[in-house]
Amino acid sequence: MNISTSKEFLENYQASQNQLKDFWLKECKNYEWKTFPTQALEGSFAELPVKWFSDGVLNITENCLDRHARQTPNKVAIIYEDNDPNEDSLKITYKELLERVSRFANVLKDHNIKKGDTVCFYMSMVPELLVGVLACARIGAVHSVVFGGFSAAALANRIQDCAATVVVTCDVGERGAKAIPLKKVVDEAIEQCPLVKSVLVFSRDQNISLGKGEQNLLELLNKAVPICAPVHIGAEDPLFILYTSGSTGKPKGLLHTSGGYMVWVGETFKNIFQYKEGDIFWCTADIGWITGHSYMVYGPLLNGATQVMYEGLPNWPDSRRFWQVIDKHKVTHFYTAPTAIRALEAAGEAYVQGNDLSSLKVLGSVGEPINEEAWQWYNKNVGHGRCPIVDTWWQTETGGIMISSLAGVTASIPTYATKPFPGVFPALMSQDGNELTNTEAEGPLCITQPWPGMARTIYKDHARYEQTYFSTYKGKYFTGDGARRDRDGNYRIIGRIDDVVNVSGHRIGTAEVEDAINQHDCLVESAVIGAPHDIKGQCLVAFAIATQSAHGKTAEELLQKVNAFIAESIGPIAKLEQLYLVSGLPKTRSGKIMRRVLRKAVEQDKKTLGDTSTLVNPEIVDEIFKMVEKNAPHRA
Ligand code: WTA
Repeated sequence: MNISTSKEFLENYQASQNQLKDFWLKECKNYEWKTFPTQALEGSFAELPVKWFSDGVLNITENCLDRHARQTPNKVAIIYEDNDPNEDSLKITYKELLERVSRFANVLKDHNIKKGDTVCFYMSMVPELLVGVLACARIGAVHSVVFGGFSAAALANRIQDCAATVVVTCDVGERGAKAIPLKKVVDEAIEQCPLVKSVLVFSRDQNISLGKGEQNLLELLNKAVPICAPVHIGAEDPLFILYTSGSTGKPKGLLHTSGGYMVWVGETFKNIFQYKEGDIFWCTADIGWITGHSYMVYGPLLNGATQVMYEGLPNWPDSRRFWQVIDKHKVTHFYTAPTAIRALEAAGEAYVQGNDLSSLKVLGSVGEPINEEAWQWYNKNVGHGRCPIVDTWWQTETGGIMISSLAGVTASIPTYATKPFPGVFPALMSQDGNELTNTEAEGPLCITQPWPGMARTIYKDHARYEQTYFSTYKGKYFTGDGARRDRDGNYRIIGRIDDVVNVSGHRIGTAEVEDAINQHDCLVESAVIGAPHDIKGQCLVAFAIATQSAHGKTAEELLQKVNAFIAESIGPIAKLEQLYLVSGLPKTRSGKIMRRVLRKAVEQDKKTLGDTSTLVNPEIVDEIFKMVEKNAPHRA
């Protein structure tokens, strides 16, 4: 697909509608296969499992690396920008990247990693993370990257769940002025992970002290041979597992396979961002999240792009940093999250002015709904009114972008993700579970047909996969989001309608937080909800009943204690913004907490509260509303 006009967009969309299978089989031709697939789609949402290109055989790294190393060996693949602005940036060409990946793959082989084995990565944004992930793919192994903000307990859970035998980490991760002790967290985590045989440690410091089973990664890489033949795998063989939060406590390991994912991220990257030869792409996401997987590791490399990889923060040493990086490397495509935009907006325009942003051609947004004000600020101060903004809606489960404008080709509309990509068929659902047929409509967002990039299962829990995504609306994939469609068929994503909260673009399951804090000896029971937040989009607020042992402590003191506890059991990203100590939680006769009451209390919206007569304790509603109004969390 090479869409460059709105007419071509419509033609492609129609072609995908008329002949979904042929459409994607044709797109497979843009990639190198050991055996070209003859099958497109097998199965359906009514009849899982879904397979794409199942008789195809390939290695995704040949598509990301070898073909570019052959054709344009000296083209820069990665421009690496260190956390420290005074450090030189590093440029890695396609030829060098292939060599680095091959060395890393040989190191993994030396550690007995074979096709189908899982390697866990717990690192900061250093090139070795991207290299390591591709090294897994090179030998048919499965990568499982865990974001460096998760705690030892959360990391241990994930390592155990995916049965990794090798863990790759950094001694410390550099994030702004902070050094994050990643290896220390790994050391603590693997005490509970008997399967782990080796820990490979990336360190800038040659004198690091290593314990039993730990090895210095750079030393191993230097000794390794820079050639490694790719292992060809079936299109439906696993490529990676990535954990995300759901509405129950246990994180879900979404499993993505290689062939369909490759075609999906390759085609969406090229057409949505309208990346052209010579452009410099920069996605600011961490590889620990799906955005980093799809639009830093795989999408750009599949397209032979040059991209920036940055280790640090948007606002360190100060809020000029992002803009300076754009100026320094003449970035043309900038893809970031609304939370970063809002934080930089709050810092003031002086920081963005004074940097030359004239290289920019396309801006992108991902991870949460972008509000009108942030959109306008981004458009005016960063894009100077001349860069199309692609507001890209998608999920860990979808593998790649599903709804977005195509930069400069189809219209961008503030706060609207706009139109589905060819091959994506959204539906909005009514309260009685039917598809809303009017163009103008609002309701839960489903997808009606399989697409090549979709996650195939939840690792080791296919029943949960079917239950979570395909049981609410029979024969449809339920996204967990609510959306509105305008009369021209543009989609606006409203946000999650399940028990998932999007804090600074990070998905947090409220059940996971409740499970954690209920174990704290000061709290008996809690209900965690998402509340609006100016910078983070949403934040976590808990209503809880305190135990005797909390007596004498203020809610503020308890909040600090509970947050320290959350940091240990999940990670600092799941910290509460506010803790209200209540005498009871609003419950129905069947014992379910009526979270709607809590959400309405946080919004101080009694008008649309609705019926509370089914509560066993209706008197609690007033107490909660008053407490939030005073914002005076009361003394236990
Ligand atoms: C939200 C991130 C509005 C949404 C790629 C979705 C968005 C969840 C957008 C997935 C957007 C993502 N507009 N909301 N452009 N992009 N979301 O799995 O609620 O980390 O369900 O994937 O983020 O988050 P995830």
